[in-house]
Amino acid sequence: MYAITIPEPGGPEALVWAEVPDPVPGDGEVLVEVAAGAVNRADLLQRQGLYNPPPGATAIPGLECAGRIVALGAGVSGWSVGDEVCALLSGGGYAEKVAVPAGQLLPVPENTDLVTAAALPEVTATVWSNVFMIAHLRPGETFLVHGGSSGIGTMAIQLAKAIGARVAVTAGSKEKLDYCAELGADILINYREQDFVEEIKRATDGAGADVILDNMGAKYLDRNVQTLATNGRLAIIGMQGGIQGELNIAMLLNKRGAITATSLRARPLSEKAAIVAAVREHIWPLIDSGRVRPIVDRKLPMSDAAQAHRVLEESGHIGKVLLTVE
Ligand SMILES: NC(=O)c1ccc[n+]([C@@H]2O[C@H](COP(=O)([O-])OP(=O)(O)OC[C@H]3O[C@@H](n4cnc5c(N)ncnc54)[C@H](OP(=O)(O)O)[C@@H]3O)[C@@H](O)[C@H]2O)c1
Repeated sequence: MYAITIPEPGGPEALVWAEVPDPVPGDGEVLVEVAAGAVNRADLLQRQGLYNPPPGATAIPGLECAGRIVALGAGVSGWSVGDEVCALLSGGGYAEKVAVPAGQLLPVPENTDLVTAAALPEVTATVWSNVFMIAHLRPGETFLVHGGSSGIGTMAIQLAKAIGARVAVTAGSKEKLDYCAELGADILINYREQDFVEEIKRATDGAGADVILDNMGAKYLDRNVQTLATNGRLAIIGMQGGIQGELNIAMLLNKRGAITATSLRARPLSEKAAIVAAVREHIWPLIDSGRVRPIVDRKLPMSDAAQAHRVLEESGHIGKVLLTVE
């Protein structure tokens, strides 16, 4: 088969479409013929040699895909050859075929085409596990998501609105904020022109945000804690603003606040399977009914994954960038 390889870490040109051996599904795995993969910010780091795949995972990048099952490994039940699926991966999604643990498969939602389904696994699993399983966002609470127009952000806005939360977003342009508003966001903050701490205080009569989903890490740590409401929960999922920050413990303590930080990719198979099962139970009905939808910015040929990485690096997108296999 053909796949994107990274012979030497570097810029987007480091991504090389090359012939590689077909993967073989192990016990409990299925082989998926990929129709599309999707780009995640972590892929950019992996390409630069800054984010190694977890032990046992393929070196081929790609954390999600959609396609058809073409073979079953030993001990797989509930899935058949020919099923259309999308899947959460530890790697290998930038390829014509990928072996997937059966616990990480999801059916293609009813009103979603096969290629578009590739936009769903990472954002649904990341948002559900952090915002709902860990931070327990509840109806009526105020939820702040940084980078509201990102792949993660566009799903987080829709899910938080679907459960009846009040949603605040940060984004870097009016066009992106307008898009977030179309998805249901109530409080729009341009992080280039406004201070989100002040804006959230103003919008909540000083109470603050009950849950924050953060992609920035160190750069926003102090301001996120300032923004938290009493009993607030800060869920960190990204380090776009650095890895080492300073924490005002007194402020966190006085607010009885909680900070969590997780990486989906590094979680054990059993935890990924539990998250995927929860996503299927709670989010799939919302997608089937059209209440929540995948947001796709553009589709590019997988062989030109380099161009897709440039788009993410320039932040020229809203939602997900997909990689299609011809
Ligand atoms: N821990 C996990 O398991 C996990 C899983 C998936 C994703 N993630 C993380 O989640 C984040 C989003 O991922 P993605 O794939 O959806 O990426 P993406 O679409 O490339 O989005 C990155 C976002 O960062 C925003 N941003 C940049 N500077 C900002 C700032 N100063 N303040 C607020 N927002 C800022 C950008 O907003 P503008 O375009 O408006 O500038 C853009 O929306 C990434 O950090 C990624 O690593 C973590």
